[in-house]
Amino acid sequence: MILGLESSCDETAAAVITPDGRILSNVVSSQADLHARYGGVVPEVASRRHLELVTPVLQESLAEAETSLDDVELIGVTAGPGLIGALLVGVAAAKAIAWARRLPLAAVDHLQGHVASLYLEPDPVEPPFLCLLASGGHTLLLDVQGRGDKARVLGTTLDDAAGEAFDKGARLLGLGYPGGAEIDRIAREGDPRAYEFPVARVPGLDFSFSGLKTALLHAVKELPPEELERRRADLAASYQRAIVRALVERTRQAAEQTGATRFAVVGGVAANSELRVSLPEAAAAPLALCTDNAAMIASAARFTRTIPYPGYLGLDAYASTA
Ligand SMILES: Nc1ncnc2c1ncn2[C@@H]1O[C@H](COP(=O)(O)OP(=O)(O)OP(=O)(O)O)[C@@H](O)[C@H]1O
Ligand SMILES: [Mg+2]
Repeated sequence: MILGLESSCDETAAAVITPDGRILSNVVSSQADLHARYGGVVPEVASRRHLELVTPVLQESLAEAETSLDDVELIGVTAGPGLIGALLVGVAAAKAIAWARRLPLAAVDHLQGHVASLYLEPDPVEPPFLCLLASGGHTLLLDVQGRGDKARVLGTTLDDAAGEAFDKGARLLGLGYPGGAEIDRIAREGDPRAYEFPVARVPGLDFSFSGLKTALLHAVKELPPEELERRRADLAASYQRAIVRALVERTRQAAEQTGATRFAVVGGVAANSELRVSLPEAAAAPLALCTDNAAMIASAARFTRTIPYPGYLGLDAYASTA
């Protein structure tokens, strides 16, 4: 069995999967409530909370899988990119367990983890495919040729990530953190054509979301405060539509350019209901595997070079991929 650990941002997560990709447990403890009052993740607060949660979350994942460390053959842990203090908690925990049990360890790239959410049972997706990875920190169009390969980047965001655009938009609309799911929920009651928000067209296959956020800011400012309540759903629906259109247009364009016939969407924004409806041809992981979780990290560990005992003791986390 493979034990996965994830602590790159504000989810402390542990999961147990089988080598052929069946999920036996997938425990995610979100710190969202802890950070909500700040309107975003406070790195130092996140690290400290990971430290408190890592052991109970790990124990719960083993208990739920009805197994013990005796059955674990490989440990996969997110080594980056993410918040460095947060990552270090997961990496230190993984090293300690692997060392004590003389197990091999796989240092998993978080973004490869998102892609590997597609390789889990019961409906695994086989490369090649064009993958839209849209999360809180990244927006990437990837040409995925093989499960273990590093994907070729076809396009990325020049400023905010799609999830970040959702979160910042939610804040402007006075909704909670994290904002994507809130906008998704409220947008269902609004008219997506009420406001004409711009979809940036930057050259190539890149994205840009900062202008959209400014457009929403102006639209909100122009409203008398008592009107915001009444127009919130329309604003949310129009804003969401603009983000989704940008993502869908670019993905289709990339498919045309590369001749890709198969698509997939991963990352937290892949949970968005409008995006899922607007790209019906795309494979998408189940909702629980879109936002950060450790099952996807354990999945990626299967296709990542493993470091034999005790070679990983000097392993470092990395905040960003240079
Ligand atoms: N239903 C939804 N609609 C739109 N966005 C959503 C939805 N659910 C979650 N999100 C967004 O997904 C993001 C979180 O996704 P994820 O956990 O994959 O990101 P992250 O791990 O913080 O970033 P990264 O993977 O880039 O390091 C948040 O920005 C959140 O607003
Ligand atoms: Mg993520």
